[in-house]
Amino acid sequence: MIRIALIGFGTVGRGFAKALAENREIIEKKIGKFRISAICDSKSSITGDFTIEEALRYKLEKGRLPESIGVEEIIEQGAFDVIVETTPTDVFSGEPGLGYIKKVLLSGRDVITSNKGPLVVAYHELIKLAEKHNARIGFEATVGGAMPVIKMIRDGLAGNRVKRIRGILNGTTNYILSRMEKEKAPYPQILSEAQELGIAEADPSYDVDGIDAGAKLVILANSVFGKDVRFEDVSIRGITRITPEAFEIAVEKGYTIRLIAEADENGKLEVSPRLVKLTNPLAIYGTLNAVLIETDLAGEVFVIGRGAGEKETASALISDLVDFYGNGSFD
Ligand SMILES: NC(=O)c1ccc[n+]([C@@H]2O[C@H](COP(=O)([O-])OP(=O)(O)OC[C@H]3O[C@@H](n4cnc5c(N)ncnc54)[C@H](OP(=O)(O)O)[C@@H]3O)[C@@H](O)[C@H]2O)c1
Repeated sequence: MIRIALIGFGTVGRGFAKALAENREIIEKKIGKFRISAICDSKSSITGDFTIEEALRYKLEKGRLPESIGVEEIIEQGAFDVIVETTPTDVFSGEPGLGYIKKVLLSGRDVITSNKGPLVVAYHELIKLAEKHNARIGFEATVGGAMPVIKMIRDGLAGNRVKRIRGILNGTTNYILSRMEKEKAPYPQILSEAQELGIAEADPSYDVDGIDAGAKLVILANSVFGKDVRFEDVSIRGITRITPEAFEIAVEKGYTIRLIAEADENGKLEVSPRLVKLTNPLAIYGTLNAVLIETDLAGEVFVIGRGAGEKETASALISDLVDFYGNGSFD
């Protein structure tokens, strides 16, 4: 029986728990029996015997969980085999996730996370820590939501030399740019409409200033190219200065403008608004994400999909779970 402790019970944490309950049969065929043995949010928790449905109902009704055992204590007690960490991202400090993840890896247990912060701040430290303590860290959910980018490169394209990765890694900015292109409307107007629709945050800076895409690029560069790069190494320009006139000129010439994140084997690391031919697969619309991978053997491989959302992110978290415990690798 695999025991999963879940840290963070917001959009992603709850989506993960719901997906485990809904797809239990499919997942148990792959990894055997599992249960969630503890859940924590920022101030409360649930441990012992409980069902996923009970925890979800309690959080929905009361806005918290029934107990007050802290995350640190739950980690120290160690009544789990894997932690699924879904606390908020801070790409500058990595906290609170970084501290939690280190503690779990030090105890020799596995970690799966959707939180970019810890990997952006301490990618190599965490990989080494996991190796040293015979533990694993899965982070497919940190880049591209449902799109299996990291696994596809590592497994499906294993044996290739990856030359370059270009992608649209932020759905909010892609949505804004798509609408600016189609409606010839100014940035502030589309941003405020996107905020009303809940597509952009009240503080949109992580998205529109390119920070979120830059963070994902750091994780890709470190994991795919084996680089040792940090957030400060990425040259970043956001989308706030793009005008409807720029779109008009671009479209007239057969191009659109998209926020492109690019990393290559020579160390290029850039997030910036770029002209993209309307016929290029990266000229995608709405909140979608896409990644174009250039390799020596397979040539170009293109992945497109939903880069965020509770179910989509759950899909990526579960793929790490199956990776770790699939095919009876857990006794
Ligand atoms: N939303 C997406 O579509 C998406 C997609 C991919 C990756 N991600 C990443 O996944 C993570 C979670 O995103 P989200 O949208 O689920 O965020 P969220 O809705 O804000 O949920 C965050 C959860 O973490 C809890 N939390 C906050 N500080 C904590 C602490 N110090 N210790 C323990 N728990 C703490 C919160 O507790 P309370 O419930 O008490 O507030 C909440 O349950 C983020 O790192 C995000 O960047 C999100």
